[in-house]
Amino acid sequence: MVGGALPAALAANWLATAWDQNAGMAVLSPVSAALETITQTWLLDLLALPAEAGVGFVTGATMANLSALAAARHAVLERVGWDVESQGLFGAPPITVVVGDEVHVSVLKALSLLGLGRERLVRVSVDSQGRMRPEALPTLTGPTIICTQVGNISSGACDPVDEICASAHDAGAWVHVDGALGLWLAAAPAQAHLVRGLASADSWATDAHKWLNVPYDSGLVICRRPEHLRAAMSVSAAYLEQQDVRGEPYHYTPEMSRRARGVEIWAALRSLGRTGLADLIERNCGYATHFAAKLRGAGYQVLNEVVSNQVLVSFGDADTTRQVIAAIQAEGTCWCGGTVWHGQAAMRISVSSWATTEEDVERSLAAMLRNAAKFQSGRQ
Ligand SMILES: Cc1ncc(COP(=O)(O)O)c(C=O)c1O
Repeated sequence: MVGGALPAALAANWLATAWDQNAGMAVLSPVSAALETITQTWLLDLLALPAEAGVGFVTGATMANLSALAAARHAVLERVGWDVESQGLFGAPPITVVVGDEVHVSVLKALSLLGLGRERLVRVSVDSQGRMRPEALPTLTGPTIICTQVGNISSGACDPVDEICASAHDAGAWVHVDGALGLWLAAAPAQAHLVRGLASADSWATDAHKWLNVPYDSGLVICRRPEHLRAAMSVSAAYLEQQDVRGEPYHYTPEMSRRARGVEIWAALRSLGRTGLADLIERNCGYATHFAAKLRGAGYQVLNEVVSNQVLVSFGDADTTRQVIAAIQAEGTCWCGGTVWHGQAAMRISVSSWATTEEDVERSLAAMLRNAAKFQSGRQ
């Protein structure tokens, strides 16, 4: 899923680049610090997350996942008396890490970077749409982190975060949500039911450069208790004799020096407004539903329940589907990638730009059907 770049966000990006200020420290870019503070309040409100949560402006969802899971690692070990920032994982009490079978590779990468390993995980089975099955959660004891996902990169489906939180929190586990795509569904009234209960988790990761349509690189890590993120990310308070360590941007991100990416997020939100953001998301989801209906109508198999902006379509057997995808890509009207969904080759349609119009959708559909017709075997 790639986003677009809203005009206001692109202009703000150019402007902030021309300012050339270091946004890691408030004293070096007071304007960025002020805009990030405002933006943080807006984001938590739009996404219906706890108002007191801490936010870090990072490069993308991979770093957001990493930062959130570092905060989780800190918190679950602190509860059993272990200071992971000082002592590392040498001799630490073991942490049980639970993921769904459809966990995104970036979460696995984050876990491996954090010394939690990508192989020693408890994997929980998922349903036909890739949603973690809460009843399949293991019995939880000791330090535990559960990695959930809202917005499966293939099906768009969302884990039942509310149900997972209910049993996880009884056992003192930390629940993280990888919401690279799906966190934004919370800002769209017609889709918000998909992410019911999101606010009961402990940490969230999302991309601004996907559905918020700001330029790359831009992601957000959000932590219910800012002190957990700060404990995992901050350096010595004495480093620069800061007046306000609590609010210093660089105490909430892996980076110290960085660009002022909050400025373009501010501009995106300011230009869209609450209704503009909801409209962008709902419009994209509506187009996805339309793609699915037309492709189904033409006799091709849509493999997922199209609940958000992702559509998985098979044009027949694996070879045919791959040939159709290659033909569509070569023709160039639109670009869709290939994937394998539950053993079946599929083309993945992802509608995610403010600039996509009904006309684009119709032209893309025509291109898909024109190219698929060259390989007839997929029709039912
Ligand atoms: C569910 C999910 N998590 C995380 C990521 C990683 O995002 P990024 O490439 O912005 O780091 C993606 C990217 O597609 C994703 O789909």
